[in-house]
Amino acid sequence: MASIKSSIPSRRFDAVIIGAGGSGMRASLQLAEAGLNVAVLSKVFPTRSHTVAAQGGIGASLGNMSEDSWYWHMFDTIKGSDYLGDQDAIEFMCREAPKVVYELEHFGMPFDRNPDGTIYQRPFGGHTANFGEKPVQRACAAADRTGHAMLHTLYQRNVRAKTHFFVEWMAIDLVRDAEGDVIGVVAMEMETGEVMVLEAKTTVFATGGAGRIWAASTNAFINTGDGMGMAARAGLPLEDMEFWQFHPTGVAGAGVLITEGVRGEGGILINSEGERFMERYAPTLKDLAPRDFVSRSMDQEIKEGRGCGPKKDYVLLDLRHIGADTIRKRLPSILEIGHKFANVDATKEPIPVVPTIHYQMGGIPTNIHGQVVAPKNGQQEIVRGLYAIGECACVSVHGANRLGTNSLLDLLVFGRAAGNHIVASKLKEQSHKSLPADGADLALSRLAHLEASTGSERVQDVAEDIRKTMQHYCGVFRTEELLEQGSKEIMQLDERRKQVSFKDKSKVFNTARVEALELDNLIETAKATIVSAAARKESRGAHAHRDFEKRDDENWMKHSLWFSEGNRLDYKPVVTQPLTVESFKPKARTF
Ligand code: FUM
Repeated sequence: MASIKSSIPSRRFDAVIIGAGGSGMRASLQLAEAGLNVAVLSKVFPTRSHTVAAQGGIGASLGNMSEDSWYWHMFDTIKGSDYLGDQDAIEFMCREAPKVVYELEHFGMPFDRNPDGTIYQRPFGGHTANFGEKPVQRACAAADRTGHAMLHTLYQRNVRAKTHFFVEWMAIDLVRDAEGDVIGVVAMEMETGEVMVLEAKTTVFATGGAGRIWAASTNAFINTGDGMGMAARAGLPLEDMEFWQFHPTGVAGAGVLITEGVRGEGGILINSEGERFMERYAPTLKDLAPRDFVSRSMDQEIKEGRGCGPKKDYVLLDLRHIGADTIRKRLPSILEIGHKFANVDATKEPIPVVPTIHYQMGGIPTNIHGQVVAPKNGQQEIVRGLYAIGECACVSVHGANRLGTNSLLDLLVFGRAAGNHIVASKLKEQSHKSLPADGADLALSRLAHLEASTGSERVQDVAEDIRKTMQHYCGVFRTEELLEQGSKEIMQLDERRKQVSFKDKSKVFNTARVEALELDNLIETAKATIVSAAARKESRGAHAHRDFEKRDDENWMKHSLWFSEGNRLDYKPVVTQPLTVESFKPKARTF
């Protein structure tokens, strides 16, 4: 392989952030405003990043509608996580929440308003007052377009702060030196195919999730697990990848998200008998129980023959009683989605919905500053020069199940925290480390393999089979048999992936190259998910195991760490000690 310096151009930045969603742009803003030379790489125009699809709100205990407290928010988040979330990180996030929301307000975020001018907040799943006593309105909302509003607000501030955007650039692999420190990334411009090294004193992964390893997903097509793939190939672990959230209300057959905010505004789920079935499963919170709970209840109704439609394979989300005026004011996008994707007028007819993959709770392990941590010589050590934030990271504030609205909150809190930590590390006073001659070899060898391969597989076929396999073997309910068979099939798909080639080599478009590179990331994420799931012999949060139906705190209150090399698993303890308050002890989860 040619030496890095002679073969490809390079540019230097203080910090390079990969991903222009909410966490990436919150971090870049902090850095650019502190005068650092910061580049943000994005596969799409920044305001098209997947944060744009977040609908319902940002969780923060502002108490604008009734009394609320960060401590209640912390309790809900820990209970929601089925006690797998790290309590230090959760305390940090819930305490910081009001601050990051008010900051966003001052950046110009167009929140909905109460008559007294304060930010409007709506109820959301699992958000309660006084430790589970009754629902509370904690989701700070901009209609049902909260992510859209947030992304535009952050983008405009970044433009003002002179953040440098590389639009339609894809990161291929990390560059590390002999000590294992991360010193930049190799990236490709998607239009021209130009490959470049972006040298950085600090590299930040903000690449989002990998919902595209599933057939039915609320995720954008760009969500191919690029950060997880790069981390796995760099020898870093992926944490708690068995925990994937099914959002209860994806449009049946289309997968498009219908916000939990619909149920926050009063919408209810009904079965073929017209029964509001969540009253049976969660007598206190009903339709606003946490997502893992509601998704399982829906699946149960369908399995027991109370599904709707000709195939009895969905339930209905009824919002007619909310009234057309409120729907138009608070849920305008839902009205549009109902029309476009379900052919219903939601003011007059219920929307057919099914649990749909939405969010990964696991990711690249980090501390509360966003620094990536990995085991080394029996200790958890910081990987120098590398941060991860947002959905690609696992800090872990969501544990085995995330509460709705804690995702936008996570982006803001940890994007900001990583930014602050990087600023405090005085990057301006540091110089770039020299690039090793073989620093780009991993990325270049992957590109070279693609050009040279004479295998018989097509990218699209392998990707589709990954999605079908994950959907079939690793769904809402899992069994030993399904997970074992699914693991075998995913391993076979990894072999098929190595045989991918371009049919007519004289006419290869860069979009095909991008898809092939993404496939490498999809398979790493799929392997991590199914192997970690097959190993966990309990049911906890989103991991519902038919052969081990109970949570097993004695043996399984621990985080999984999956390594690509050797397809190996390790574990580390859950942090049960918060920063300043008493620990919340695990209890049975009823709602
Ligand atoms: O239902 C929703 O609006 C999604 C919110 C979230 O995932 O936090």
